[in-house]
Amino acid sequence: MRGCGLPLLLQALILNVLFLFCLLKGANADNPYRFFTWKVTYGDIYPLGVKQQGILINGQFPGPHIDAITNDNLIINVYNYLREPFLISWNGIQQRRNSWQDGVYGTTCPIPPGKNFTYVLQVKDQIGSYFYFPSLGFHKAAGAFGSIRIWSRPQIPVPFPPPAGDFVVLAGDWFKRNHYDLKRISDGGHSLPFPDGLLINGRGWNGFTFTVDPGKTYRFRISNVGLTTSINFRIQGHKMKLVEVEGSHTLQNTYDALDIHLGQSYSVLVTADQPPQDYYVVVSSRFTSPVLMTTAVLHYSNSWKQVSGPVPGGPTTQIDWSLNQARSIRWNLTASGPRPNPQGSYHYGLIKPARTIMLANSAPIINGKQRYAVNSVSYIPADTPLKLADYFNIPGVFNLGSIPTSPTWGNAYLQTSVMAADFREFIEIVFQNWEDTVQSWHIDGYAFFVVGMDGGAWTPASRSGYNLRDTVARSTTQVYPKSWTAIYIALDNVGMWNIRSENWGRQYLGQQFYLRVYTPSRSLRDEALIPRNAILCGRAQGRHTRP
Ligand SMILES: *[C@@H]1O[C@H](CO)[C@@H](O)[C@H](O)[C@H]1NC(C)=O
Ligand SMILES: *[C@@H]1O[C@H](CO)[C@@H](O)[C@H](O)[C@H]1NC(C)=O
Repeated sequence: MRGCGLPLLLQALILNVLFLFCLLKGANADNPYRFFTWKVTYGDIYPLGVKQQGILINGQFPGPHIDAITNDNLIINVYNYLREPFLISWNGIQQRRNSWQDGVYGTTCPIPPGKNFTYVLQVKDQIGSYFYFPSLGFHKAAGAFGSIRIWSRPQIPVPFPPPAGDFVVLAGDWFKRNHYDLKRISDGGHSLPFPDGLLINGRGWNGFTFTVDPGKTYRFRISNVGLTTSINFRIQGHKMKLVEVEGSHTLQNTYDALDIHLGQSYSVLVTADQPPQDYYVVVSSRFTSPVLMTTAVLHYSNSWKQVSGPVPGGPTTQIDWSLNQARSIRWNLTASGPRPNPQGSYHYGLIKPARTIMLANSAPIINGKQRYAVNSVSYIPADTPLKLADYFNIPGVFNLGSIPTSPTWGNAYLQTSVMAADFREFIEIVFQNWEDTVQSWHIDGYAFFVVGMDGGAWTPASRSGYNLRDTVARSTTQVYPKSWTAIYIALDNVGMWNIRSENWGRQYLGQQFYLRVYTPSRSLRDEALIPRNAILCGRAQGRHTRP
């Protein structure tokens, strides 16, 4: 460029355009692009009335919504103005062929302070309700999370009339302690303390208002973005019609109250069919003692009366109520998903899994410190993202098979655990929980079929109770205390994928690992190339991405 006589500004502009062009070539060129510039900063927030150091995106807590249509390309340039490394991950966004963009430390180098990184994602073949969150340390306890809504393409029928409005409800437990303190507590070998309260869209008691017109129907997309507890969601005097779970259109059952476990997302339709006044929107913690509660306000636009009366209580029975509700949530086989063909045209129940992986969680003490483990392995991060070590063939970062595929019940130990799997394998995974707390498991890069859950020990005979017809496909499932949950998963997405507890203290202290879904083919149809702008850190520093 030097000497070609262009003014500097113009040169910079051309470089930018060239760079953008290079980025775009990496994404799918036929579909629209949506551009986001996010500035991540510290800022004071007061969600429970006390001042806290929040992590804001473009000055907002929670962060901005992402709205996209199936197959859109999202170009998200994240500027890290914190004094520490930062990463964002996309809960439930599959990033097909592209675990490079997953934004967890096993796949992606952190964005250094003062630097920026541009994520290039495609929301390929997805619809539904999801959220993004910061994945390092305990940043999630300070904010930087937000909703992702993927709308159906205009020509694809949606199995309910267009609602009059579409509300996001990001709810979950909250700590008054800042994220450094929570990290210090965990690093010191302790489990997290009990949370101080619950938030709805970043606000405490009656801090957020949803305004509705009488007689109209609204969609509420509720995600549990908390750190440690399951929640129950309900609206005083109103019924909720369930329509979508993490990208699956459901049978439209009606519920008074809905349990939402850590990391899960649900869409319900609510009709403003009650006398015009204001009503409580309630979130309470589940399976905890004491029970935490918070409220928002459902405000009728013609309301003459503020919220009143007792705040409606949640379910009082514990596990059975929740388990029965979970079993009642089913796929609408004749509805479309992201494509016009019926969801039930993919007969997951007719495919025989090639093998069964059993994963048992535990809470061992290792070297005098509280840890959490899967099959006796407590995950510790490596000095280099596993995906990069794999790509550059850097030895000594991780070993395949460093976590057993079924419980050994041996002494727990620390390990950078990676499980090997083959592209196109169809497998059964059984989560077995012998602890007395609810677990919530998430698999990045995938939606899986939750075929069964029940109390006690899973045995091969448990298969006779599976729902092989119309269970939902989703990315996060609960496992009740002293119970099991079984899923079927088609490993059709090559990459290095995080399987983790959505309970953040557990995840941080080792209840996670990576599944390396591998194909020897080097075809772009199977896996995207390393991004040109990939940050290279650890032992990958100084390598080259590609020309
Ligand atoms: C940081 O932002 C600039 C300006 O948009 C862009 O040219 C550059 O590629 C970004 N860096 C990365 C690593 O994405
Ligand atoms: C399932 O979807 C179809 C097609 O969109 C719709 O007509 C039907 O009402 C839905 N059924 C239920 C029970 O939700």
